[in-house]
Amino acid sequence: MSAARDAFRRHLAQTSEAPIGLEVTRAEGCWLYCADGRRYLDLIAGIGVSALGHGNPAVIAAIEAQARRHLHAMVYGEYVIEAQARYAARLAETLPAGLGRVYFTNSGAEAIEGALKVARKATGRATFVAFDGAYHGDTMAALALMGNAAFRAPFEPLPGPVRRLPFGDEAALGAIDETVAAVVIEPVQAEGGVRIPAREFIVALRDRCTRTGALLIFDEVLTGFGRIGRLFALDHFEVAPDLLVLAKALGGGMPLGAFCGSDELIGRLARDPPLGHITTFGGHPVSCAAGEAAFEQIVRERLWERAARVGAALRTRLEGMIGREIVAVRGIGLLIGIEFAAAERARRFVAETIARGVVINWTLNADRVVRLAPPLVIGPAELDFAVGTMRDALEAMSGGA
Ligand SMILES: Cc1ncc(COP(=O)(O)O)c(C=O)c1O
Repeated sequence: MSAARDAFRRHLAQTSEAPIGLEVTRAEGCWLYCADGRRYLDLIAGIGVSALGHGNPAVIAAIEAQARRHLHAMVYGEYVIEAQARYAARLAETLPAGLGRVYFTNSGAEAIEGALKVARKATGRATFVAFDGAYHGDTMAALALMGNAAFRAPFEPLPGPVRRLPFGDEAALGAIDETVAAVVIEPVQAEGGVRIPAREFIVALRDRCTRTGALLIFDEVLTGFGRIGRLFALDHFEVAPDLLVLAKALGGGMPLGAFCGSDELIGRLARDPPLGHITTFGGHPVSCAAGEAAFEQIVRERLWERAARVGAALRTRLEGMIGREIVAVRGIGLLIGIEFAAAERARRFVAETIARGVVINWTLNADRVVRLAPPLVIGPAELDFAVGTMRDALEAMSGGA
């Protein structure tokens, strides 16, 4: 056993009793090179983070240049940090009007927390609405929104009140009333098992929020930056939220989150009291520089179009595997869910596939669904390898089931 693996087992906090446990020594493009001497095709990209794959030269150059200029200088918001200001301006230029003011954080959960605080302060209301199957992160308030009771239970009481609604059900939207500060939704649920609502549902939700004065918060932590075949899910649904939460691919592989809104909404954090929402490391200049470099490439190469095309072709090939084990395949862009007849079979499929050199995993709130979120730049030969490997894994399962 390597020294790193030994230290991992003995001294690092574990998040499960059965970690994937790959010991990554190097990563390049869509491949992870591991201490066992093998390479693994990465079909989850750090769960949607590495949109450009690993080791993108422009991102690395931006990191190196910023590291030479300066690292951390001051808590977020006090100094003019060019890397932050430039990236915020670039995002504002691309997002719909009304989302042009950006508050950078360290992570997705932290951005959710910030958006919830803005909603409380702006509306003076207490209640939040979230959806079955939702995942918004693991800090206390983000966890309170979690659409799976098993993950909430050990940590209760959690901040609230939180009203939970069925995802995608227009008839349930009447529960959003004048007591609601904000409705938080992933426009496409990922951890909930890759669930894609009808556009009518998102339009009706926007309408209900506008009529009741509840703020609509889109959590695009996973759906943003080309993943679902448009630059953002808000482009797909043609619906603008009051607050937009970003993370994952936002930082180009570095830790970075953000919540974005109007001058009026985000401006509330600067007063009554001033410094009422601050962070030391949020919007770290190296993260912002890396994120901006990645964003420029995604936009320049219109990678969402590639994600739409490649994702559709991949889904068609996966649909050919529907049978006794796989009961459904769904997806949008390069966010794809493969649904199994039973959770235990999904787990077995994941294990058989990783053993053959392709990394996939299942979703937290829908344990029968295996999620694929490969780098948006994945190539044809890599896709052939992925599909062939998954087919072999299925065959091995039926052989030894
Ligand atoms: C939709 C969504 N929101 C929020 C989060 C939390 O982000 P982080 O892990 O950066 O706190 C995640 C993480 O997987 C996510 O998928």
